[in-house]
Parts: sequence; structure tokens; C-alpha cells
Amino acid sequence: TGGTARREFVAAIDQGTTSSRCIVFDRDGEVVSIDSREHAQILPRPGWVEHDATEIWENVRSVVDGALRKADVPVSAIRALGITNQRETTLLWDRATGQPAHNAIVWQDTRTDALCRELGGDIGQDRYRRATGLPLASYFAGPKIRWLLDNVPGLRERAENGELLFGTMDSWVIWNLTGGTEGGIHVTDVTNASRTLLMDLRTLQWDEEICASMGVPMSVLPEIRSSAEVYGTATGTLDGVPVASALGDQQAALFGQTCFTRGEAKSTYGTGTFLLLNTGEDIVGSTSGLVTTVGYRIGAEPAVYALEGSIAVTGSLVQWMRDQMGVISDASEIEALARTVEDNGGAYFVPAFSGLFAPHWRSDARGVIAGLTRYVTRAHLARAVLEATAWQTREIVDAMTQDSGVRLATLRVDGGMTANDLLLQIIADFVDAPVVRPVVTETTSLGAAYAAGLAVGFWPDTNALRAHWKKDAEWVPRMDPVIRDREYTYWLKAVDRTMGWLD
Ligand code: G3P
Repeated sequence: TGGTARREFVAAIDQGTTSSRCIVFDRDGEVVSIDSREHAQILPRPGWVEHDATEIWENVRSVVDGALRKADVPVSAIRALGITNQRETTLLWDRATGQPAHNAIVWQDTRTDALCRELGGDIGQDRYRRATGLPLASYFAGPKIRWLLDNVPGLRERAENGELLFGTMDSWVIWNLTGGTEGGIHVTDVTNASRTLLMDLRTLQWDEEICASMGVPMSVLPEIRSSAEVYGTATGTLDGVPVASALGDQQAALFGQTCFTRGEAKSTYGTGTFLLLNTGEDIVGSTSGLVTTVGYRIGAEPAVYALEGSIAVTGSLVQWMRDQMGVISDASEIEALARTVEDNGGAYFVPAFSGLFAPHWRSDARGVIAGLTRYVTRAHLARAVLEATAWQTREIVDAMTQDSGVRLATLRVDGGMTANDLLLQIIADFVDAPVVRPVVTETTSLGAAYAAGLAVGFWPDTNALRAHWKKDAEWVPRMDPVIRDREYTYWLKAVDRTMGWLD
């Protein structure tokens, strides 16, 4: 569809939990090409999850090459590159050699459970909540840095000598992209920094006192920048392209869903599920187990904040049914299998594989399947797997209603799992609100592309972006409220059974 103005593009790299992808978007926000590659999940012990950062960087390079090749456009037509990433996953690397000092510790990893309890001391889990918006939980990055420095021989000394750099995956990718050992830029953005337990939400800077009390030397920390500005230029295949945005993947999805106004919310169904509500320039504290986080910051504009309900395990439960249990051979089969039965047959599956995140924050919880009788088949379990995602969403929505006083009018969803129509019906039923899916469900990459495009003037403003959003389909609740309430009671009973497993 001609016109020279249309022959320019923005690329986004999404470095996610299970895969890295690169997507090229056109001016209408439509996907021109995609390439993606999975990396290994390293599971050394129960509750531990690691990634090989070298493998991840190689995959990122390869998907950038792949996406450009498939788009068949010259590098000179790529106006900007945006970065989005799995959040909290923690890496230390050597600034002189570029070598990771250890595998990255993934956000799902619970090894810092005891450390978090120790750090909380008499005050407990909320010790840093006022400053950072977060509870002390194994999910967040700061304690993972401390763990590495305390447990990997030689690391503390190397850190104190200024030899090591810390980063979440945004920092690692940007440092490598902009030259690595040959002048790579060591930065992160406000959204990623807001997941470390080390950044003050008001000043948007590292909090010296917290860093000291957590035993993290400030010399390892990247510079905190906005989410949409030119940090530097890429080398390699994208040589010369401005690297112009970074956002944690959930914040990127909020941006990609064009939730730019206070009160707008989205829920992304990936390995985990994360519901974010835009609260504008207000920092809204939670008393219901949600976290307060930075939504995005465009250049020098004021930061926009969000309330977040984080669920550790949703899509990864389907993967577990495939990879560890062999119940299905492809993730998409879960829907057909679940459709062969009317209900869960009495079974409830609480996948507390990484403890429980919002609203419970219990790193010591472990998964359970409750309500088993001999009647239960693999199809009932498939149904219970989908219901687990929907009930966890319901718990978050209840907490949001309590904290914000506003009942969610509709839920905008995206992410890989939203290809599953049955799941979306179940979510509408359990949450008792309409669920809406947009045409483009690659909203995470789209959000990073939008932010990068805004930074270089490829798009004029957020209003221009809103015009791209199109509805694909909607699901309305149709469950008998009496049954819903009864089922919810059973779910909560099953949740109770997961707690204190390690006591
Ligand atoms: O906080 C973790 C989140 O950023 C991971 O997202 O989509 O990689 O599972 P995803």
C-alpha cells in the first residue's frame, strides 16, 4: 500500500522468559515480520530457575537478523529500535570481558526466600514498601544481587573493585547492542528499575540507604533513564539505528494496549499474568497485596504510575503439563482437551510453583491439586489448569477494586494464552466482567516500538497511537452467580492448602 512515507519501520526486541523475539512494525502499528527463538530453562533445584545470558544474547542477535531478513527492508528504513524484557531477572557481568559472572537468576526463582525474611527483620515484608512500592519477596531483583554476591566465590570482591555490572535483561541487551566491551552503554529504564526494590518511586533514583541495607554496592548499578529517549545507537546488524526505548514487558503491554489514561487497565497472559492499572501521576499505595510500579516515562515528561497484580504461573502451567507431565504435546491442545468436559470434575489446581505472588506474597507456598477423586480425568485437569488462570485473575481484580474503589468495566487482554477462546470465556465468567481482545495481541513488542517511535518523532503523540487499537472479539459473563460463588470458595480453600508448605 504505496506512499514513500509508509516505507519506514520501527523494530522491537522482546527478551522474554521463555523466548526472545524481534518484530518489525509499520507506521500503522501492524506486524511486518517476526522472528523468535526459545532459550533453555535451567532448573538446578526445586524452586530455582536460571537462564544462560550468553545464550540469550546470541538468540537476540539471531532473531534481529531473522526479523530483518523476513521483513526484507534495508536497515536504513528502520527508524528506531525499542527494547522490552522479562523483568526482575538478575545478571552480573564483567565489564572488561563481557562474560556473565553466573547464570541469570530468573524472576520465578525462590532461592532468596529466607534472605527476604531476614532483610525484613522486625518490620517484615513491608520494610521497603513506602519507598519502592514493593513487598520484600523473592520475585524482585535486589535480593537476587545480594544472593549472588554472598554465594558465588569472588563476586563481592569483584563488585567492590568496580569490575562487575548489574542489569536486568534490558540493560544486558542494550549494553551488548551498543558495543559491549567496546563502549556499551550501561543503562536501565524507570520501569525496570522499579522492580529491583532499590529505586525510590518518587525520585526515580537508586535509594542509597536501601542499597546499603541490602548490601548492594552502587557501583554495579546502571544509570536510570526514561522509557522513551535515545540511549545510543546500535552496532551489528542494526548498525546506526537509534536504541530509543526500554520498558519492562508488562509496562510495554500497557503502552501497546494504549492504556494512557488513568483508570485504563490490561492483563497480559504469558508465562505469568500481570494486570496493570494506569493511576496517572499518582503513586497509589496498595493495602490489598498489589504492587505500586512505574508504568512508563516518556522523555522528560512526568512519570506515569500503575498498580499491578502479578501472578507467577499461568502459561507456564500449560508448558509444565506439556513438558514435565506429557499430558499434551502442544500448548494449544489444552483448549480442545478442556472442551471435552463440562467442568473441572471437582479438581482445583493452584500452581504455586514460585510461591504465590499477588495478593498473597508467600514465597513459601508450593503447588497443590486439590479435590481429587477417581472420577477426575486428564480433561478435568486441563480444565482446572485454565480455571487456575481465571481464578488468579479474579483474586487480582478483587484486590484492584478494593485499592482503587473502582470496579473494572472491561478487561483488555493480550499475550500468547489469549489465543485460547475457552480461557477468555472462563475469565469473563469468574471475574464477572467483559473480556476484550485486540486484533494485535503482540502488544508487548508493540508498546516498545511505540515508545521508541515516539522518542524519534516517527509518531507524533500518544493520540496517534490510540487510533491503531482495534477490537477483535469480546466475551461476556454468562455464569450462574451461585455456582461462581461456590466454585470460588473451593478455589480459596485450595489456595489455603499451598501455604506454609516449607514450615
Ligand atoms: O515480572 C515478570 C514478567 O516481566 C515476565 O513476563 O511475559 O516473560 O512471562 P513474561
